Amino acid sequence: MRAVVVGGGAIGCAATALLAAQGVDVVLLTRSAERRQELRMAQRIELRGDVTASGGPVRVEGTFEATAGADVIFVCVQSAGHEAVAASLAPHLQSGQAVLIFSGLAGSLLFARAWRHRPDILLGETATPPCSARLVGPGVVQVRMRTRLRAAAFPACRTVELLARVPAGIPLHPAIHVLDVALHHPNLIVHPLPMLLNYAAIERTDGALSLMNEGMTARIVAAMDAHDAERVAVLRALGVDALPLDAVYREFGGSPEVYRQPGEPMGIRDRIHWRYVDEDVPYGIVLIASVGRLVDVPTPISDAVITLASVVRGVDFWAQGRTAERLGLAGLSAGRLRTYLVEGTMA
Ligand SMILES: NC(=O)c1ccc[n+]([C@@H]2O[C@H](COP(=O)([O-])OP(=O)(O)OC[C@H]3O[C@@H](n4cnc5c(N)ncnc54)[C@H](OP(=O)(O)O)[C@@H]3O)[C@@H](O)[C@H]2O)c1
Repeated sequence: MRAVVVGGGAIGCAATALLAAQGVDVVLLTRSAERRQELRMAQRIELRGDVTASGGPVRVEGTFEATAGADVIFVCVQSAGHEAVAASLAPHLQSGQAVLIFSGLAGSLLFARAWRHRPDILLGETATPPCSARLVGPGVVQVRMRTRLRAAAFPACRTVELLARVPAGIPLHPAIHVLDVALHHPNLIVHPLPMLLNYAAIERTDGALSLMNEGMTARIVAAMDAHDAERVAVLRALGVDALPLDAVYREFGGSPEVYRQPGEPMGIRDRIHWRYVDEDVPYGIVLIASVGRLVDVPTPISDAVITLASVVRGVDFWAQGRTAERLGLAGLSAGRLRTYLVEGTMA
């Protein structure tokens, strides 16, 4: 099997090493000349943590020509990059290729809009990547593995086909559709609200604060649970058998202890990653609030998080965010929305 991993961050590097360790012929594609040089010097990517793996020599490229002949393209970029990656991939797509977004946040709906004349491409996304990952040195990634990844194709009638295309070491588990997948992303609950409630400490330490370790107090976890009830209500209004946050963690092989008890989930001293606000609010919380409006579920905590995060960060996250309108879902009733997500038609 041939694969291309798009994105040279922690997840892209970890995914490349995981695939290489399974014998997949894999190329990592990154825009960053510095990352390309670093990985070429390191020659291989080493995984540390609850798995140790080191595949063969890593091939690293900087242009989308590298996707020629790939069976599967794994997209591992921040959500802000989804539209740019869809546009860059478009002229190079080859009939029958599969494209899977690790941690899609409904990005597959944007890819499908950009590629509306390419039903020959098998498209899908997962709720979380195959591991949590931190780059700890050139070509070295600290990981915490997940044992089950909620995943769906768009349209979901192709999910079984998609799952069959991905190596068994990436443990995909079929979901109802891509909104079921997107709204089961745990980061939407464990990051934005605790980030806001810890903002003074984050600023004072210049980000040297471990959110999951020092940032989780009893009242912050209680606030998170209230926010989670909103996410669950939106999913239930979509007809999805929604899991609350603790069950989401258990489903992917983690434990709620990572936020209910002090400790370092990654096994290393962690720090703040600004994507906890700058990505998870516009692409995640705006998604909850916007889909909530579509299915008539009030989302006052999500609305408050978006407003406060926008004020604190000096950005209009509503304007920037992933709304039902941007995803092409505006005005759809719950029934028509489900038909669209499952069959890909607006009938
Ligand atoms: N790390 C984790 O433990 C973890 C856990 C759960 C979910 N996730 C999610 O997984 C995704 C990747 O995470 P990561 O830790 O690897 O993140 P990262 O290191 O911050 O970024 C990954 C890559 O995204 C690409 N990128 C960022 N902004 C872009 C833009 N505007 N246009 C095009 N590409 C852009 C860059 O690709 P180039 O290499 O080409 O510059 C970058 O290397 C994120 O969505 C993140 O929220 C990560």
